[in-house]
Amino acid sequence: MTQALSTQTVVAVIGAGAMGAGIAQVAAAAGHTVKLHDTRPEAAAQAIAGIRVQFEKMAAKGKLSQQAAQDAGSRLMATPQLSDLADAGLVVEAIVENLQVKQKLFSDLEALVSDGCILATNTSSISITAIGAALKNPQRLAGLHFFNPAPLMALVEVVSGLATRPEVANTLFATAAAWGKTPVHAKSTPGFIVNRVARPYYAEALRVLTEGGADCATLDACCREAGGFRMGPFELMDMIGHDVNFAVTHSVWRAFFNDPRFSPSLIQQELVDAGFLGKKSGRGFYNYSADAGKPLPATAPAQFPPMDIVVFGQSTAALALVERLQANHISHTRSPASGDSLASGGGATVRVTDGRTATRCAFETGTPNTVLIDLALDYSRATRLAVVVAAQCDPAAADAAVGLLQAAGFAVSVLQDIPGLIVMRTVAMLANEAADAVNQGVCDARAVDTAMCLGVNYPCGPLAWGDAVGLERIQTVLGHLAHTYGEDRYRTSPLIQHHVFAQKAFS
Ligand code: NAI
Repeated sequence: MTQALSTQTVVAVIGAGAMGAGIAQVAAAAGHTVKLHDTRPEAAAQAIAGIRVQFEKMAAKGKLSQQAAQDAGSRLMATPQLSDLADAGLVVEAIVENLQVKQKLFSDLEALVSDGCILATNTSSISITAIGAALKNPQRLAGLHFFNPAPLMALVEVVSGLATRPEVANTLFATAAAWGKTPVHAKSTPGFIVNRVARPYYAEALRVLTEGGADCATLDACCREAGGFRMGPFELMDMIGHDVNFAVTHSVWRAFFNDPRFSPSLIQQELVDAGFLGKKSGRGFYNYSADAGKPLPATAPAQFPPMDIVVFGQSTAALALVERLQANHISHTRSPASGDSLASGGGATVRVTDGRTATRCAFETGTPNTVLIDLALDYSRATRLAVVVAAQCDPAAADAAVGLLQAAGFAVSVLQDIPGLIVMRTVAMLANEAADAVNQGVCDARAVDTAMCLGVNYPCGPLAWGDAVGLERIQTVLGHLAHTYGEDRYRTSPLIQHHVFAQKAFS
């Protein structure tokens, strides 16, 4: 197994901004002498003063001994000249996100450091291969992509360019692990793992919003309360900033030669054009001015539960529904699986979405009173559930279905009849993108799930989630979305197709 760099190795960090300071803190805490360099006068010294305050705070909280905090602080030094970095065994670059500027810096460094020195870049979007092209020896360059804030976020993507020597990537992997991080290997492709696989989380929500499926507050609430995501897509985009989020989407889309999978949203373009950049500008999808209240999600008014509830089959959704009805003392009967139906009552048939609209499903199954429910991460614990109602559905039957779900303890949000609702289509597309990343050799299945759980706090890795939903169901949902939109965007990953035919799970 490849060894981590010893703590005797001097680590140089170039760029003392948000990321460079965080990386310097991590390396110093791990025992390295760290030389911090920035072209802005005083930037490195100021960053070091800030890091020392962090170490003192950690000592005050008992996370570090006083001595350890002092030692870690004293291992940091500001170096005004690039030539001061000649003795570094590892250089981590965290300067401005610009290919030419990074290339120039690395070729200057190449002339300075020893042959054995590893060069790493924290770039979040530039090709490692392209940065390396400016070097005489691109084999020693790799991406070492930390997440913000670096001292707190566990994930590090170790990114290999076309020329990167495997031992270099392996040494960085072992070193990141020795620094207390959870590294994953990735190939240099647009967005690496996280910034690529996360795209559908924003893209599907923007699509649903564009098509009038529901408002932002309702969709956010469904993603949190049914999907188990920590933040809904709209509040998250507002927090990231639309300028940043749109630029990443745009750059991934362009880098994939305009693949419709990644096409940006006109709504987000409008927000950027308007300067409604999110929280930082006081307005994005939401209004952050002091007098603006937070909008509430649309929640269906209380309805009586039907007297004739039947729950069908043994699916996880059915078992959770029974458990919840029992807990609320709602009378119901059980029946063996009946096609794809989950429950019935008051004339309504309730099914879990398979990616069709309720109207299409009603038509194709000959069941006019069709109500579809969304995917939940855990049907026994979800507090809210989105539903869609077929155009053919009798309003009294729709109310009965809502009453049935409310009786089971769900707050119900009735969306317009969009295909795949919100959580199901999002999870299907996340799993699809994760599968394509694996299929194209960007990373392995374990890495993609680890990366998404640690890099963006997903409640479940997309491939494990796809397994839990059932890959056949994911394929069906994607197939129906592709049919509805007639777009290549929803094409099913060949790896999902393969796993369905091989009856194999990812985990
Ligand atoms: P920042 O703007 O906070 O800091 C960049 C620093 O680099 C500044 O202090 C600047 O004076 C310095 N600098 C610029 N050109 C230089 C040069 N030629 N030589 C030495 N110093 C130079 O930027 P931030 O956010 O820390 O990002 C740095 C890098 O990390 C970028 O490549 C970015 O894409 C990447 N990144 C950023 C993340 C974030 O959330 N901010 C997350 C992961 C990666």
